[in-house]
Amino acid sequence: MTFLVTGATGPIGRSLVAQLLYAGAAVRVTTRDPAKAQFPSAVEVVAGDFASGDLPPNALSGVAKAFVFPALGGIDGFLATAVEAQVPQLVLLSSLSAAGEHDRDHGSMSNVHHLAVEQAVVKTDIPTTVLRPGDMANNLLYWAWSVKTSGTVYGPYPTSAQAPIHEADIAAVAAAALLEDGHAGKTYAMTGPQALKRTEQLATIATAIGAELQFVEISPEAFAEQMAQFMAPGAIKMLLDYWSDTVDEPDVPRPTVEQVTGRPARTLAEWATDHRTDFLV
Ligand SMILES: NC(=O)c1ccc[n+]([C@@H]2O[C@H](COP(=O)([O-])OP(=O)(O)OC[C@H]3O[C@@H](n4cnc5c(N)ncnc54)[C@H](OP(=O)(O)O)[C@@H]3O)[C@@H](O)[C@H]2O)c1
Repeated sequence: MTFLVTGATGPIGRSLVAQLLYAGAAVRVTTRDPAKAQFPSAVEVVAGDFASGDLPPNALSGVAKAFVFPALGGIDGFLATAVEAQVPQLVLLSSLSAAGEHDRDHGSMSNVHHLAVEQAVVKTDIPTTVLRPGDMANNLLYWAWSVKTSGTVYGPYPTSAQAPIHEADIAAVAAAALLEDGHAGKTYAMTGPQALKRTEQLATIATAIGAELQFVEISPEAFAEQMAQFMAPGAIKMLLDYWSDTVDEPDVPRPTVEQVTGRPARTLAEWATDHRTDFLV
């Protein structure tokens, strides 16, 4: 039984490939750049751009289930290829923002993108499991440069509290949906196990790397101005709305990871330990 993993060179995809191999599964991945991808020899690597469907003719032959990465710009090409190849089942990576649980979600960059991808998958009629993770712990990697160079992080809303999820837990739920029966038609909203203030998130990283770090509050306007050179205005707005809302209404942790995988969701302390080297010079 072969499982296809798209988006395999990212943090979620790499963890998923490792977990599938550990379970003894046959794994095929797509990547636009096989020379850089560097997978274990047991992995079958297919060169091409899955999102546009620009894949070799046999890329999807014999695939039992496919993990679908929500490429920006859409995945219509891949879905057309999957329908043609009669792929029996899909596991789609989406986002909690697609659930539209909060006013801030409606029309946000992530909501619009992930809802469009979900709707495109529904139209294929291929039975699908939809994964809707909230805030990924990996978003904290954008602190790495400040941590390494000055030990000081500047940001707004220091008391806002989120429940960041480890990429390996998103992958673990994906692996369960691929390897086991009974997940088709399910939508899994998932978060990390604990809501932590942004100052507590930084303190968790400080403990993992054995350093003293400080969080210095700046205004939302100053943050927006600083980030304008790195991020689209819609992404900055989405972040500020999220942090502003979660000052008074912290993220509510979901039990999904444990319910689906049978093991507790990884804590932020575990994530920080796994990513120590990202924060060390
Ligand atoms: N950040 C969050 O808080 C959050 C929350 C919920 C959901 N998410 C979802 O999680 C995703 C990030 O996951 P990740 O960090 O594991 O992935 P990633 O590193 O952003 O991307 C994984 C791989 O997907 C392929 N890819 C990316 N964009 C593509 C495109 N437009 N066309 C074709 N291939 C493309 C690339 O592979 P090759 O270069 O090898 O082809 C890339 O290395 C986000 O994009 C979002 O959809 C994020």
